Amino acid sequence: MPTYSLHTHTCGELRPQNIGETVTLTGWVWHRRDHGGLIFIDLRDRAGVTQISFDPEHSGGTAFHAAERVRSEWPIKVTGTVRQRPEGQDNEKLATGHIEVLVSELEVLNTSKTPAFQIEDHVDASEDVRLRYRYLDLRRPKMMANMQLRSDFTFAIREALHNRQFMEVETPSLFKSTPEGARDFLVPSRTQPGHFYALPQSPQLLKQLLMVGGVERYYQVAKCFRDEDLRADRQPEFTQVDIEMSFVTEDDVMGALEEVLRDAFAKVGVDMPTPLRRINYWDAMDTYGIDKPDTRFGMHLHDVTSIFAQSKFKLFATAAKTEGQYVKAINAKGAGKWPRAQIDKLADVAATFGAKGLAYIAFREDGKVTSPIVKFFSEEEMAALKAEMDVEPGDLVMFAVADRKTADEILGGMRNHMADALELPREGHDFLWVVNFPLFHWDEDRKAYAAEHQPFTQPIETDIERLDSDPLSVGSWTYDFVMDGFEAGGGGMRIHNADLQMRILEKLGFTEERAEAQFGFLMEALRYGAPPMGGFALGLDRVCMLLTKSDSIREVMAFPKTSSGSDLMSGAPSEVSGKQLKEVSLRIL
Ligand code: AMO
Repeated sequence: MPTYSLHTHTCGELRPQNIGETVTLTGWVWHRRDHGGLIFIDLRDRAGVTQISFDPEHSGGTAFHAAERVRSEWPIKVTGTVRQRPEGQDNEKLATGHIEVLVSELEVLNTSKTPAFQIEDHVDASEDVRLRYRYLDLRRPKMMANMQLRSDFTFAIREALHNRQFMEVETPSLFKSTPEGARDFLVPSRTQPGHFYALPQSPQLLKQLLMVGGVERYYQVAKCFRDEDLRADRQPEFTQVDIEMSFVTEDDVMGALEEVLRDAFAKVGVDMPTPLRRINYWDAMDTYGIDKPDTRFGMHLHDVTSIFAQSKFKLFATAAKTEGQYVKAINAKGAGKWPRAQIDKLADVAATFGAKGLAYIAFREDGKVTSPIVKFFSEEEMAALKAEMDVEPGDLVMFAVADRKTADEILGGMRNHMADALELPREGHDFLWVVNFPLFHWDEDRKAYAAEHQPFTQPIETDIERLDSDPLSVGSWTYDFVMDGFEAGGGGMRIHNADLQMRILEKLGFTEERAEAQFGFLMEALRYGAPPMGGFALGLDRVCMLLTKSDSIREVMAFPKTSSGSDLMSGAPSEVSGKQLKEVSLRIL
């Protein structure tokens, strides 16, 4: 780091070769130890920590007395001589751990109130308190390391894109609704009463227009805004590395993305071997029950429907005889040793994924089984199940009985839950593509087809003939980038033909008038020689969360919001004055 006029070195910089030099450091008083005649302070700045010491003999009375007065988190400036630490006092964990600075001058730059929590990596304070004083929270070395990693990765991905002739283009935040499946944040217009901008859920439409505009290779580190229920990996305001290319096929786009991601990850010390594995959407669902599988552990889903076609166990037999119903199972190895009460509690977990109950068989280590259902099974059924599920003593086999999607969701959720509960080792990172999502799914609430990705996705050409007869069987040119069991990015090829785009919008329930009102500008642009195009958006916050092994994206965002969308530091969202409301022609109900 460069030094400035207030200091000669940073607090992370001094080494034994500096011994004997006179240096000036600035930073915050971190730990302070008063050993009677000697005072030691760990002085901390962004770059690290240096031990500074004071003794009345060498430091002179003034500096020593000033050191007696300073308290935690006061910013100070010290000048002194670098010396070897006394024998036996080296700190191997610290880059500066072999030296200390014997101080001759100390200047107090400011005082500090006692912080609400200690500036340490392990804080006991609640997250609310940390967010209330985020500027103090950011001083914790772990948070500062997270911010640095995020900065390094963002720079690396920009560099990788720039090296491949991608052009960075900024797009407006005050725009029109972009349908990514969430609610919009609206901004009232002062000059046009009753009219609103929508903050972009993503720059999707604008990047397609940039392709029509000839940009050919676009990227942007873009803020996106989505008013949706928050989770550990979701914030209302988040950042995408947004990318679009034209005159390309999906293999070109995925190939370019793999190179860019590989180079960017390498810059932060992560090896992402290319080409990435591609798993078809339906295969991912069948095997892992989820469209963002963590493949660092097995516990695959098995379709055991046919085993129970003649079963005396009604629930399974009925499902086996009913079109579209399945009996699927997973084997959580090791959980068969759990006490029955603990296993029974899994039904509550399964309920959160849509199960009405949880049928299971615990294979005890003594050869016995614990199970509410096994008494109905024939010997043949049991033998076939054991063979299919590779059963050993200590295993817990869990079942889901439902339509394919629901059964997959239940067991996909249970699979992840059990991996956490059993603390299955998940070393390193897991990267893959899940490709060819269906174009639509059926939205039971709206009783209508909904876009699985978004409404501008290109259907697979050979499937287009089934758009009317069997819309749910139509596949799409889409690809999600899955990292460690999270959807870290997603994209696809776009429709560049206005008529096909209109057909898809109609299938999604848009009338021509509504499509015109909402997307008329896009439809019009498509009629001016729109090139074939495709792109992708990387969830920057999610990737940084995974790179830093954090539990939440809030740990890699400087000023995140709480789950109710508040900023605890500033108090946003807050009321505005009657005058401001009047200016934008609004009245609060
Ligand atoms: P999508 O909606 O899949 O695609 O978003 C892309 C990636 O953005 C991240 N993400 C989020 N991160 C934090 N908080 C959120 N609320 C949130 N929502 C999404 C995820 C996700 O994979 N326009 C398309 C991309 C394209 O087709 O080019 C889009 O926005 O990591």
